[in-house]
Parts: sequence; C-alpha cells; structure tokens
Amino acid sequence: MSRLLHRRTVLAGIATSSLAPSGPSSTLPGGPVQAATPRIRYGAAAMKENFNEDPRYRAAIIEHCDIITPMNDLKWEALRPERGKFNFEDADRILAFAQKAGKAIRGHALCWYNAMPTWAQGLRTGAEAERELRQHIETVLARYKGVISSWDVVNEAIAHDPTPTRPWRDTIWNRLLGPAHIDIAFETAARADPAAELVYNDYDYENVGPRFEARRRITLDMIRRLQAKKIPIHGVGIQAHLYAERAIDEEGIVRFGADLQALGVKMLVTELDLIDWRLPADIRQRDIAAARHVETFLDAASTAQPGLPVITWGITDKYSWVGETFPRTDKLAARPLPLDESYRAKPMMDVIQRLRRA
Ligand code: G3I
Repeated sequence: MSRLLHRRTVLAGIATSSLAPSGPSSTLPGGPVQAATPRIRYGAAAMKENFNEDPRYRAAIIEHCDIITPMNDLKWEALRPERGKFNFEDADRILAFAQKAGKAIRGHALCWYNAMPTWAQGLRTGAEAERELRQHIETVLARYKGVISSWDVVNEAIAHDPTPTRPWRDTIWNRLLGPAHIDIAFETAARADPAAELVYNDYDYENVGPRFEARRRITLDMIRRLQAKKIPIHGVGIQAHLYAERAIDEEGIVRFGADLQALGVKMLVTELDLIDWRLPADIRQRDIAAARHVETFLDAASTAQPGLPVITWGITDKYSWVGETFPRTDKLAARPLPLDESYRAKPMMDVIQRLRRA
C-alpha cells in the first residue's frame, strides 16, 4: 500500500472512530478514500489592486477557481472609512466579476479586531459597539443576500496563546462586549441572511502542540455555547497559513474535523498559503517541500470532511503578504502560493488539482 494511501487509511479510521455515536455516518470515509467525489473544492482570495491592474490575475482566477473571496474589500476599513457611510464600490467590482464567471463567493470578515477604520477603533461603550456591530452586519448581509453564500462572521477572536483564564484575544470587541460579541455577531448574521453559511475563522489550528490543541478545544466549546443558545454557526474556517518548519497534526486535524462534524459543523480551509522562510534556497527543492507540506495538511483535512472548500490566500507568488511578513534571511522571494510569479503551475497546484479530481 502506498505511503499516501496508508496515511489516508489510518486517518480515515481516526475520523470514523473519534466521532461521537450520534455523528452522521453517511458521508464518513470508511477505509481508503474512494474516488467518488472530489476531496476538495478550490478557490482563491482576490486582492483589489492586483485584480484591477493585472489581467493575468483575473484570468488565473477564472481558470483555476470555483470560489472567490475578496481579500480586503469587505473589511470595515474598506467598507466604512467614514462613520455612518458604506462604500461598496470595490467589493461590488470583484463580486460582479465572480458572479458573471459563475463562481461561488465567500465574504471576509464581518467582525475582526484588525482593518478597522479610525472612528471604529474609538468605540467607547458596549452599547455603542453592539449597535455598530449589528448595523454593520445587517447592512452588509442585506446587500449581498443571494450573492455571498458563506461568511467569515467572526475572525480571530481566540487569544494567540490562550490560557484557561484568558481564552479570548484582547480586542475592542472583547473589551466592550466580552465573548458575547461572538454571540451577537452570529445571531445578527443569522437573522439578516438565514440562507448564508456562517463561519468562525481563525489561525493556528493545524500543528502539533498544546497551543494548537487549546485553540481547537476553545473553538469546540464556543460552538457548543452558541448551540445551547440556539444561535446558528455552520462552519469553522481553518486559515492554514502553514509554516514549513511546523509539523502538521494530521490526527489532530482529522479528530477536529470529526468533532465538528459530530456537532453538525463544517470545516473550511480559508486562507491557505505556505510560509517557506526556513526552506532551502533552491527553488525546485523548496517547491516540492512546500507541496508535500500542503498535501499532508489537505489529506488530513479532506479525510475528516471530504469535499471541503480550500481557499488559497492569493493565487500567484507575484502577490502575497508572506514575503514581507516572513522575510527569508537570504532575501530570496517567498514562494507561498500554487502559481509562481509568472503564473506557471507549481507542484502545490498539482496537489490541489489532484484533490479536486480525486
Ligand atoms: O487599499 C489601500 C490603498 O488605497 C492604500 O494606498 C494602501 C497604503 O496605505 O493601503 C491599502 O490597504 C491595504 C490593504 O491590505 C489592501 O492592499 C491595507 O493598508 C493593508 O493593511 C491590508 O493588508 C491586508 C491585511 O489582511 C489587513 O487587512 C492584507 O492584504 C491581507 O492579506 C491580510 O489578510 C489577513 C486576513 O484578512 C486575516 N487572516 C490573516 C491574513 C494575513 O494577515
């Protein structure tokens, strides 16, 4: 049995065994994954500047993607630079393109501590914060009802390194409203667009270690809290900004996916890219190592929840946040995405295409 098939068999067993008895059994993989349905659906986040200026960027998205996420144009700072006004122009342009091309659309992000306009950073009371948060979600979801089918409702609310006494990140939303800001956001979104898939999105779920386990555990507890209050939550977005030097917790991801499924919650991969700053300089070696790391992660994620959406955070190495944020000591350009800087497919794209067809 090949290494890949062996790994999938082991992981599929974990997915089945770790499910609570009440978990749905019909879609669980039993043994080696059959090539019945695609293991993943693929999409990419589109950045306004590149989208508007580079026809090859638009063409690559059309060619390779089933799903599109505007990278920044649905954030508060883009939609509401001035208090009391909404500016939908940039978002509308990308959304019209996606609709015309028949692509599914994910929205990012209705409630985040970052990318907030100056006026919103000055919110002073819980009442004011709740009023602005509810109005924001109601206005945006009303506009894009039937256009955006899935939303990152809350992004990155869990502390970077959570503790039992401090599970939540110190943000303006948590300071003014406590963790109840999560309840408010999901409850408002569910009322504003009952048909939308409502997702909690965060990072550092993917690796081995107590910090990553804690983040997965806090997420499951948060879901149970919302469900006990009859507040809808449909999915958890694993951002998957993968570090090549960090071991993927294959069993942990499969178990997390199975635990989510047992709660009736989907798993999504929402911002996949590969941080290669610790990989060798040689491009061929680097691209193969990056593809193998992504394959290990996607095998685990798609074993627990076959057919899950996988969105890369951009599509070409020509445009990515990774190189500036995680600079290589040899000053070489980062290679985090499925297409290289000349839009040529890399081994990472081969992995994605194989899983789309599998
Ligand atoms: O659009 C303005 C432009 O008009 C202005 O001239 C320029 C210079 O100030 O700024 C432009 O806005 C920038 C925007 O990207 C679009 O380029 C913002 O300053 C800049 O902060 C913003 O960075 C984005 C960042 O989120 C913060 O919103 C990155 O592109 C984006 O890749 C990054 O994505 C985040 C996810 O949303 C959440 N998960 C982590 C991920 C990586 O940080």
